[in-house]
Amino acid sequence: MEIVASGIRPTGNLHLGNYFGAVRSFLQMQYEYNCFFFIADWHSLTTHPNPVNMRQSVNTILAEYLACGLDPEKATVYVQSDVREVAELYLYLNMNAYLGELERVTTFKEKVRSQPDNVNAGLLTYPTLMASDIIIHRAVKVPVGKDQEQNMEMARKCARRFNNIYGVEFFPEPASFHLSEKAVKVPGLDGSGKMGKSEGNAIYLADDEKTIHKKVMRAVTDSGPAEPNSEKPEPIQNLFKIMEIVSDTDTCNFFNDKYNACEIRYGDMKKQLAADINTFCAPIRARINEIAADETYLEKVARMGAEKASASASKTLNEVRKIIGFRSITNY
Ligand code: TRP
Repeated sequence: MEIVASGIRPTGNLHLGNYFGAVRSFLQMQYEYNCFFFIADWHSLTTHPNPVNMRQSVNTILAEYLACGLDPEKATVYVQSDVREVAELYLYLNMNAYLGELERVTTFKEKVRSQPDNVNAGLLTYPTLMASDIIIHRAVKVPVGKDQEQNMEMARKCARRFNNIYGVEFFPEPASFHLSEKAVKVPGLDGSGKMGKSEGNAIYLADDEKTIHKKVMRAVTDSGPAEPNSEKPEPIQNLFKIMEIVSDTDTCNFFNDKYNACEIRYGDMKKQLAADINTFCAPIRARINEIAADETYLEKVARMGAEKASASASKTLNEVRKIIGFRSITNY
């Protein structure tokens, strides 16, 4: 079965946009491939070298993915820092990665601008750590957003270069599996663009009913159409788009007809939308709260994932050590 690997940043909570994007593709992929999904906590040190509460952030995102239906029995779900082999492979990859190519990565250049006082070596070698994450399992497919394309190009380069330098056909070249092409794009509530954490327009899976209601009621609208069957301006389109995602067809048709007849009452529509978003989120929210409170279960999942991921990683690393010319340490 083809091997898939992808990393999850342990920053913040999941919102509806994440759910209909990355989360849903992971859920689908776990049944079709041999998946390794991990929380990239080492990567977060590149921007936050002294994290305030790493365990908490990792557990939160883990609980949310599990609540959404990520199945630790199907996929290997683990925490990056639990698998030391990843760091050793990163070391080898760094020996064959060059300053010039690493400096050219756009995300690095952006970080140099945004955190000029902390341009550390980890930031520069972010792509080789990411390459290690992927090729440690000899993965061939990587579900990522378009923004990761340069990092993916580096991962392919690392795999190719390793094969070339040591004269082997060991690492397959990992291909990007673009999430954005498959994903349902959820717009934000602020009238333009997609839902995002940094845009501040998101509804989180963990938001309670009141919060959802408040956010939806504040969504940007206008004074309504002046003529029957008018085209919808973007903020209104967005509202209908979210409704299509969470509400049933009759509800969508009802408000669409009202809009076309110039009888739309946005207040009513928003109330309905908030209720439907809540209906969608409520069972997920209940599971998030349940799982997040169950530290024993989270620990069990992380341990099981670490074991499975370590087994796969040490197999690769033993071969890598042999290929480069180091002693095998399998029986330590
Ligand atoms: N860089 C990815 C992001 O910012 C996270 C990540 C880390 C990742 N390691 C990975 C993604 C390996 C795919 C494969 O979202």
